[in-house]
Amino acid sequence: MSDDSILNTAVIGCGGHARHHFGMIADEPRLHLVAAADIDATRLEQAKTQHRPDRTFADYREMLDQCDLDLVYVVTMPGHLLPIVLDCMARHLHVSVEKSPGMTSAETEQMATAGRESRGKAIVSFNRRYFPEVLAVRRLVQERGGAVHCSGTYNKTLSLIGTPAMAGIAPDPVICDAIHHVDLIRWLAGPTPERAARPVAVHSEVADGERAGSHRHNAVIRFDTGAIGTFMSHYGVGFRIQRAEVHAEDFSAYLDLTRERACELYAAERGGSSSALDEPLDLDAVGGPNFNETSHFANCIFEDTEPWSTLDDAVVTMHLCEAIRSGHKGPL
Ligand SMILES: NC(=O)c1ccc[n+]([C@@H]2O[C@H](COP(=O)([O-])OP(=O)(O)OC[C@H]3O[C@@H](n4cnc5c(N)ncnc54)[C@H](O)[C@@H]3O)[C@@H](O)[C@H]2O)c1
Repeated sequence: MSDDSILNTAVIGCGGHARHHFGMIADEPRLHLVAAADIDATRLEQAKTQHRPDRTFADYREMLDQCDLDLVYVVTMPGHLLPIVLDCMARHLHVSVEKSPGMTSAETEQMATAGRESRGKAIVSFNRRYFPEVLAVRRLVQERGGAVHCSGTYNKTLSLIGTPAMAGIAPDPVICDAIHHVDLIRWLAGPTPERAARPVAVHSEVADGERAGSHRHNAVIRFDTGAIGTFMSHYGVGFRIQRAEVHAEDFSAYLDLTRERACELYAAERGGSSSALDEPLDLDAVGGPNFNETSHFANCIFEDTEPWSTLDDAVVTMHLCEAIRSGHKGPL
């Protein structure tokens, strides 16, 4: 690390999603944006104007050679991540790996193996895990003995599939896109603040429609915690919807993550009444309303702790996605 209190940071891949990472880097005082790289000259120029890195590069390897870096955000499409992530790890840099961490669980395993040889840390950008609303709900559920049931819904219209941002999902819509809510239900069912639940069995029904892109998945998952999860993801339906719910004994939370994040909470008295809880979620108890994956990763680097979304843990989510997409029925 060049300066004990500042992480020299770079971004590789300056496309549509990178603006969120540029924003979080700018908001995190312990990070300084040293460089950005993209093979697309127009996008690189836009990143230079909008996010003002000290230097820009068409070739990320030149950037790794020439800049004194601590931390690299790799924000390319999943099919382009592996060699770049391995190059960063070979240089012992801290790496943020965009979701999905590769196109297959085997690619994620390759990154995880390389990560074990690196002195740098790696976080997978499963950003739903770090939403303060999600963290506050998990806290309430864990205080009540943990999740007994959770579910995730992740639907999109066919018109979204035709957009450039969605063009890459064709090979596997669960891995490349709906993975967000596969991972989210693992996280909501997690038994401790740091741990996601591990699936032990899944029953998945896949019923793709005849139109290109109309992928449909319904799965029931049993977790090692005893909780049951249900996952639904349908492409080619009426609206883009991202919802989740999680239930503990006598307690329920319904999360809407479609646009503005919203949450309904309900609690029941034993043998008595049930009611909606009026008090807002306690976001301050989980890092505040601006907490995000970047502040968490900076904490992990400075405090030498492991991120909540490691590559090893992402391998579990990737295996579950593959099981859901393949219509697996039985133990995992
Ligand atoms: N977490 C979320 O909510 C969310 C939302 C959208 C996208 N994503 C993820 O973000 C990633 C990027 O998505 P996007 O929509 O920004 O894609 P994009 O295609 O707009 O951007 C990717 C960029 O990477 C660049 N690139 C490719 N190979 C490169 C290389 N070798 N060196 C330097 N640059 C290279 C491309 O030129 C492009 O500009 C994907 O993995 C996607 O799954 C996540």
